[in-house]
Amino acid sequence: MRKLPKLPRPLAANPPGCRGATLLLALCLLAGCATRAADEGATRHRWTQLGPDGRISLRSIVDGVGDCPTAVVDGARVPLQVRAAATVTGAPRPSPDNPAFRPDFAVTTCEATLPATARQASIGGDPLPMPVSDPRRIIIVGDTGCRIKVPASGPADPIQNCAGTSDWPWPRIAAAAAATQPDLVIHVGDYHYREYCDDPARCQPLRDQGVVVGYGWAGWQADFLAPATPLLAAAPWIVVRGNHENCDRGGEGWMRFLSPVPYRQCGNQAYKTASQSVLGNNLTADAYRVELGKRLTLVVADNAAFADYLPLAQTPDDLAILQRTLRALTTAPSGRPLWLLIHKPLWYDLLPAAAQPNALQTFARSGLPASLQFVFAGHEHAFATLNFAASAGRPAQVIVGASGTQLEAFDPQSPLYEGAAPGSKEQALPDARLHDGIAASSGIVLNRYSFLLLERAGDGWDGTLIDADGRAISRCRLDGDGRQIDCGFPAPPQAPRSGAQPSCCRGASRRNGRWVAASSR
Ligand SMILES: [Fe+2]
Repeated sequence: MRKLPKLPRPLAANPPGCRGATLLLALCLLAGCATRAADEGATRHRWTQLGPDGRISLRSIVDGVGDCPTAVVDGARVPLQVRAAATVTGAPRPSPDNPAFRPDFAVTTCEATLPATARQASIGGDPLPMPVSDPRRIIIVGDTGCRIKVPASGPADPIQNCAGTSDWPWPRIAAAAAATQPDLVIHVGDYHYREYCDDPARCQPLRDQGVVVGYGWAGWQADFLAPATPLLAAAPWIVVRGNHENCDRGGEGWMRFLSPVPYRQCGNQAYKTASQSVLGNNLTADAYRVELGKRLTLVVADNAAFADYLPLAQTPDDLAILQRTLRALTTAPSGRPLWLLIHKPLWYDLLPAAAQPNALQTFARSGLPASLQFVFAGHEHAFATLNFAASAGRPAQVIVGASGTQLEAFDPQSPLYEGAAPGSKEQALPDARLHDGIAASSGIVLNRYSFLLLERAGDGWDGTLIDADGRAISRCRLDGDGRQIDCGFPAPPQAPRSGAQPSCCRGASRRNGRWVAASSR
């Protein structure tokens, strides 16, 4: 890996060049020296995210090795610092290298950490979203990227049509969510799905459409940052790490842009090999608490590399790691409601009942505080709620995993595959399925592209599941004390439904394995 050559500094940041002869001054003026604030910077993206210990993190992405901008925070100048420098590897990679290891990032990530008391911030005169004291509107999205993972030969994951906003609706969902004017945005993980496309026959149609693929800057820009722009501008974010951000996949981008802790470089792990990411080698961050006003605490956890699809006996190290990294949950002050934000659900549909519990379920048997009302997760590309009888002593679980990436309903290997029968796998619970030994008392499963809007209503919260056009799909009521979420079961979807494979890729996407590829979702 070599550093990018030093790029020319912006004129405004190069005053000697602007102090010469009159001609140079005139050129300077024409180029904007006199009007462009020195602290504006050539920022591509900027946003605010909430981190551990009440900290507010201002982040920006600057082209090349450009200077980080300076923010104005409550009237004071606060220079952003380099969080991760720009890199371009250039040279051919050694063949054992995972292409997800040290991909090209020709941008600089900048960061400034503010105390919880900060109230106003701007960069270049543009205000940045800041936390409000009593959030009343919360957006939850999850699993948003466009799925491209095609090896040079053999079976591939379903190829999603990234060029079609019906087939990949994340850009529309981000815009619709921004239009609700939220106070806070929560992303429950899986931002990056454009991994690789190595089969010319299957990939040329994508290239002809200008579809960008890759683990580096271009892939992250296309899959997450560009379409998320209006939503990043709308409110501060809380970001949860998904398994697509494991070190053996999109982890380098996660570390550069979104991780709540200081940047660290991922190791050269290779997916589906002995070196693949597991909890113990994935730079797994400790969970942390975010206080929302005076009435609610969120616990943000990283279980991205947890082997949810294996029973406890096959993941002997995971339980101790979960017990250690989830201390923010187990040590939370009692008496204040808690919500847990996590990528992989507690009660995971794809582990047979006889193989349960997995490590997280084992932890949950004794490690969940009574004040935990709801668990919000992603990972399954659907919207799903689970309620248990009060005697079970469990929180409700809400999966918001249908905000852009290809739905389970379109995946022939998924138990929620619907084929030519839209809505056929949607259901209202209860059913006979056991979740670590206990059947749900109620809930719903919906296979529709969507995001969730939570709005404070009195002492509780109302929810609305919303589609990419901003239309309500289902209305929900969250009963925190009762640890229940009740959502109305909507009318069946209208056929045909968008999201099926594009004509370029039809028939190219069968995985021949059984449904064990949980970590490949
Ligand atoms: Fe996912």
